[in-house]
Amino acid sequence: MAEPLIITLDGPAGVGKSTLAKRLAGHLSIAYLDTGAMFRATAWKLGEGSWDWSEDKIREELGSLSFSLSGQGADSVLSLNGSPLTEDIRTEQVGMWASNVARITAVRDFQKKAQREIGMTTSLVAEGRDMGTVIFPDAGCKFFLDAALEERARRRFLQLQEMGREADLDELIKQIGERDAQDRNRPVAPLKPAKDAIMVDTTKLDIDGVFAKLVEKVETAS
Ligand code: C5P
Repeated sequence: MAEPLIITLDGPAGVGKSTLAKRLAGHLSIAYLDTGAMFRATAWKLGEGSWDWSEDKIREELGSLSFSLSGQGADSVLSLNGSPLTEDIRTEQVGMWASNVARITAVRDFQKKAQREIGMTTSLVAEGRDMGTVIFPDAGCKFFLDAALEERARRRFLQLQEMGREADLDELIKQIGERDAQDRNRPVAPLKPAKDAIMVDTTKLDIDGVFAKLVEKVETAS
């Protein structure tokens, strides 16, 4: 059997990774893996304040969690212990909880194992913070997306509005800025581009333009 195809998309919050990764996965007829959702669901399950627990307790709790992925493109379904993840994890507050647990070695080890297991049998467009650097260093094509903080917060603001949630733009700029700083400066698997990643600044590009650029690069690489 041919090796699964892995494409990685890393970058900070609100840069357009999810939209692009889903669309790229659909275009290639492969699955979309949202590793941010895996961290969010883990933080949600462990609960508020779990980041202050001992590593032993965290490892023990993680032992009862199991992720699985099915489907393709926008229809990919990520499940935790057999139940599809819900929209409850999509708030900025749970994003910060995810960022808090994402600094813990036991959590990163657990995620690494779960994500690599999925990638061993399934072709993926995988999005996150350390896909190209740590989880899939041999990926066939790696992208690192970036955009100005204000623009990313504006996009997240519109997304939340579409979901019918309350949002405050200034608050989002502050929250996303803090989460990014924590993700970029942590000692384990910090947010940074892989040496061989293709850099894409999405601040001024429209989504169709960026998508066309990604497809062109993937087709040239394969
Ligand atoms: O991408 P999303 O905003 O859903 O990610 C939530 C948080 O999960 C990030 O701020 C980051 O701290 C963590 N994360 C991570 N590594 C990944 C994906 C997400 O540390 N591969």
